[in-house]
Amino acid sequence: MAAASPDIRPAIANIRPMLELDVPYVLAVESAAYQFPWSEGIFRDCLRVGYTCRVLDIGGDIAGYGIMSMGAGEAHILNVCVRSEYQCRGFGRKILSFLLERARAAGMQEAFLEVRPSNSAAIRLYQSAGFEPVGVRRGYYQAAVGREDASVLRRVLLA
Ligand SMILES: CC(C)(COP(=O)(O)OP(=O)(O)OC[C@H]1O[C@@H](n2cnc3c(N)ncnc32)[C@H](O)[C@@H]1OP(=O)(O)O)[C@@H](O)C(=O)NCCC(=O)NCCS
Repeated sequence: MAAASPDIRPAIANIRPMLELDVPYVLAVESAAYQFPWSEGIFRDCLRVGYTCRVLDIGGDIAGYGIMSMGAGEAHILNVCVRSEYQCRGFGRKILSFLLERARAAGMQEAFLEVRPSNSAAIRLYQSAGFEPVGVRRGYYQAAVGREDASVLRRVLLA
């Protein structure tokens, strides 16, 4: 029998800054979500250099996270991830909207991201949030065999 879904009340879903102490929990979510996950060192570097790193905290449980860099008028969404048992409940959109609002408030004019063309769930999320394809980075991603291209998506951030 399938495990019951967690009882989630949106009111207790809180986006807060990622802390060093969160990294092992974030890494567990990352490792379960991706075939080629980021290393612990990448998350720690993102915190160290001051990227916008946020976790989705549901009653003390890390249900997802988002990471973004900003500079020269451009925001780069580097990672958006929701733990599998919390997916398809609007949390990915919530994290993405939070990051875009931060970028807009910081004066960024555009947001960019890379996504695997095979990641249809993420592409639908990004396109429904106003991102459009603007290019391809050849062989950007590790793949089971060889490399996979990345689609580059862009969204204008209105003032
Ligand atoms: C991509 C991801 C972050 C989406 O998070 P989520 O919380 O499940 O997404 P939401 O519930 O907020 O859904 C937002 C939109 O995304 C799209 N979407 C999400 N899951 C989908 C799925 N399984 N199939 C198709 N579209 C999907 C839909 O357009 C959805 O809008 P709708 O509900 O109005 O139709 C999540 O699937 C995930 O963490 N995947 C693994 C990590 C990953 O690939 N991250 C992106 C790297 S570029």
